[in-house]
Parts: sequence; C-alpha cells; structure tokens
Amino acid sequence: MIRSIITLDETVAVLVPGSIAVVVGDPNRANALRSLNTEIEIYEIPEFVTSDIPASHSLLKAHLGKVPIKRPKMHFQIDYLYIGMGVTPSVIDDVRSYLHVGGIVHFHDGRVDRQIPEPVWDIPIAKLKPMEKQYISEGVANLPPGGNYVEIGAYKGGSAVIAAIANPYATIYAVDIWAGLNPDFEVFLRHTQFFDNIVPVKVAVDVPQEGPTIIANKAGIPVGNLSIDFLFIDGDHHYEGIMTDLETYVPYSKRVCGHDAAQGSYVQVAVERYFAKGFARLLRVCPPDALRLWGKLFCFSGGGVGYQAGHALPYKNSDSSIWYKLS
Ligand SMILES: C[S@@+](CC[C@H](N)C(=O)[O-])C[C@H]1O[C@@H](n2cnc3c(N)ncnc32)[C@H](O)[C@@H]1O
Repeated sequence: MIRSIITLDETVAVLVPGSIAVVVGDPNRANALRSLNTEIEIYEIPEFVTSDIPASHSLLKAHLGKVPIKRPKMHFQIDYLYIGMGVTPSVIDDVRSYLHVGGIVHFHDGRVDRQIPEPVWDIPIAKLKPMEKQYISEGVANLPPGGNYVEIGAYKGGSAVIAAIANPYATIYAVDIWAGLNPDFEVFLRHTQFFDNIVPVKVAVDVPQEGPTIIANKAGIPVGNLSIDFLFIDGDHHYEGIMTDLETYVPYSKRVCGHDAAQGSYVQVAVERYFAKGFARLLRVCPPDALRLWGKLFCFSGGGVGYQAGHALPYKNSDSSIWYKLS
C-alpha cells in the first residue's frame, strides 16, 4: 500500500536518511528542504536546463563515482521531486523517469503526483527479468485478502516493491541477511519507504533457520500457526543455502517458487533433490558437484521432480529462470 501524504513538508521530514530530493528551478524550495530534513541529499537543477541538455545529465554527473553509469535507473532513484515554475515538460519527463516507485512529484502550484509504473510490475531496481517480475506481481495480486508473500533474498527491495504494489492488502515479508557483500539495509529501507505493507525481516547469516519464527513474531502469532501463501526464494544461491531455505520455509508454504534455476545451477540441483521422492531424495546429502549428473538422472527417473522444467529454461536466450512447485 503506498503511504499516503499528510502534508508535503511532513513527508519530506520523514524521508529516511540517504533519501534523494531534487529541486528543479527553485533555489528557495531547495533551502526550505535543507531545514526540513538534514539527513537527505538535496540536488538542484537550474531552470535554464533545457531539453537540449537532459536534466538527468547534471544529476548523473553529480553522482559520478557513486553509481555505475551503466543502467543508471537501476542504481539511481529520486524520492522527492519538486518542479518550480516554467520548467519545460521534457525536462520534467526526463527527471521524473528517475523517480522511485511511489515517490513524490510536487509542483510549484501545489499539485502532487505519485510515481506509479505502467505496467505495475515494471520496477527498475528489481534484479529480475520482465517475465519474472510479471510472475511475482500476478501471484501476489491473486492472493486472498489478508494474504501474505514471503521472499528470501530481498536485497535492495526491488522484488518486495513489485509485490507490495501488486496487492496493497497483502503483507510482504522481505527476508535478508543484509550482510557481507550486500550491506544494503539502508538502501532497502529507502527503496521501500513508500510501502506500508512491506515488513523487513533480518536473519542472522549463521542461523537463517530462525526466519519463520521472526516472521511469526512480527505477525503476532506462534510459529506453529504460520502459513505462507506465496513463497519466493532468491537468497543464498549456494547448494547448502538453497537447501536450507527449502527445508526452512517450504513446510509452511502453500505456493512455492524461486529464482535462478538455470540449467546445471546449484539452485536447479537443490530444487530437484529437495522435491525428489524415494531413493533420489537421498542424494540431497551428496556433494552437488560430484553427483550433479547422477542427481539429475535419479531425480528425473524418480518421477518426483517438483518443479516445472519449462520454467527453468536454459540460462541463455531464456525469458525466465523462475522455478515453481507444481501444486
Ligand atoms: C539476488 S539478491 C535478491 C534480489 C531481489 N530478490 C530482487 O529481485 O531485487 C540475493 C540476496 O540474498 C541475500 N541472502 C544471501 N544469503 C541469504 C540467506 N541465508 N537468507 C536470506 N537472504 C540471503 C543477499 O544478501 C542478497 O541481498
């Protein structure tokens, strides 16, 4: 659910630290913002910027060294945008294209607009392909009222925002360790700050099995009563990691899917072994590299493969690497 605006000044005052505000063509508003929130970054674009010089050019220049130039819309977003008087529509469109989903555009005459993507699942910051984004979005949109979605591996919040905007009446539990190579919890908070139905769930690196208990605590229920309507696994992609996530969360879940099941990947091997039946299931304890071929043979011949191969297409020329458990 997109957080509603009470007053614009109050909205600026509660932007989380590190948020980015951009003011086009009004130095007074830029100064006012500085006194409203000292923990946000404020950028000014002078009103003389025209469509000949894309406004984003100066923004990106200011951010050079901070964000990769490649795919800047994945790495650079504005949370609050103020448009002064006389700014041309092309400049507005250009700068606005960097606005966060749910982010605020505030015009000099008091008009306010929110950034809503079209289609609604088109969230640039998510590390997913279009078809994969659509898959998550439609799955969450179809949840019953009061339903929940749990994702393992929230990273910077992209997939959580896809889910949150798809269904404002569902609770989105976004699980991550936010540690190691990805110390991005502040970035996650910023990216998800406009959505009240996202609940961050931080698990410890060495005890990811505590996730269900933490989620149940946040939901105010005993863990024995936890029921996950829709589970998406996109966390630790090592064999043991994916197996731990499957063992930890699948028993609570009605619908199960995950990301990156490219042919021959650890994800694919772990998923096949987890859902295999009979003897093939024993291969779960075997080293994945040594027994990858055997594992595949046994799992397939065991007839218990619990995911749709067509949705774990070969890595190259594939539109989706999502696997999902057949119900
Ligand atoms: C590929 S990213 C997830 C991308 C995200 N789903 C998106 O679409 O924007 C993988 C994330 O998994 C997290 N992770 C790694 N091990 C984990 C674990 N045991 N439990 C939860 N998250 C984990 C990493 O910190 C990282 O943020």
